Amino acid sequence: MKVKKRWGLAITLAVMVSIVTACGGNNGGNNANNTANATNKPAETTAVKEETSGDTTGTKKITLGFSQVGAESGWRTANTISIQDSAKEVGFDLKFSDAQQKQENQIKAIRSFIQQKVDAIAFSPVVESGWDTVLKEAKDAGIPVILTDRAVDSADTSLYKTFIGSDFIEEGKKAGQWLADQYKDTQEDVNIVELQGTTGSAPANDRKAGFQEIIASNPKLKVIASQTGDFTRAKGKEVMQAFLKAHKDIDVLYAHNDDMALGAIQAIEAAGLVPGKDIIIISVDAVKDGMQAAADGKINFIVECNPLLGPQLMEAVQAVVDGKEIDARIVTKESTFTSEQAKEALPSRQY
Ligand code: AHR
Repeated sequence: MKVKKRWGLAITLAVMVSIVTACGGNNGGNNANNTANATNKPAETTAVKEETSGDTTGTKKITLGFSQVGAESGWRTANTISIQDSAKEVGFDLKFSDAQQKQENQIKAIRSFIQQKVDAIAFSPVVESGWDTVLKEAKDAGIPVILTDRAVDSADTSLYKTFIGSDFIEEGKKAGQWLADQYKDTQEDVNIVELQGTTGSAPANDRKAGFQEIIASNPKLKVIASQTGDFTRAKGKEVMQAFLKAHKDIDVLYAHNDDMALGAIQAIEAAGLVPGKDIIIISVDAVKDGMQAAADGKINFIVECNPLLGPQLMEAVQAVVDGKEIDARIVTKESTFTSEQAKEALPSRQY
């Protein structure tokens, strides 16, 4: 994507984003797979203000309506900050709405953005299904929609311009691959419990599927219990307590995010067990608290999911408002961390 100019405030959004074509993960049918850098950085986007005075060209300031999932996790907090800071940086008028993990609230927010005639709408869909009607309303009103972080399963991909975010299937595969490698020579059954993210959400569906696909290659790796912890610490703890009560022989916990893993760690310790030793723990996100737990040896492996999507989102918004074609899929590049790698990365971790 290239330099854009509006309202005399010339903004250079130079993004180290490599955009390629092909689909990654379950992105609701989009047919392009673009790769954006990400590891521990705000997507390497540099916003250069060539001029900081107000509107000298008479061009209208862009109004962006954004519907956020909620504030359920450390990841989400970092994502919200990234979006708010990036909008400020480029001078967009951001109308931010917190859906408190409820689809109905997101639909209401999108309808309100349509009524307000915003220039663009972006949202991180709490679940994958049930968006066609409201997305059609936005399309009919001529307001472009951008999906960020999570996908929808709408068959009609013309209902949105792009989907910017992680490949959650790939994240699940990375988690599964690490586990499969650890236990490749095992002669005994390995009992795994799984803490799923929000039911029906793209990351919960895809992280489960990716993990399952890889561990299926070794019949000794057995998921003996799997339940949602809704991506929260409190629910992660509660469900892990129940798992520990029901199963005396848990070897591995796979948590779809750090917050649930951190809640589960509290339950494991309260049960007199040592997290990271008595129970091997794998999680996803790599937010600071998760990385600290990994550095302390309580989480054994973390798959990164980068929340700093704000700069890429603002760039895409500018492009669609300018009437430019943008790629249908922008995938965030991500890394993984063992305990040792987490120790090294922690001092420079931004979120
Ligand atoms: O959609 C991204 C997921 O949502 C993150 O992994 C999780 O922490 C968050 O709540």
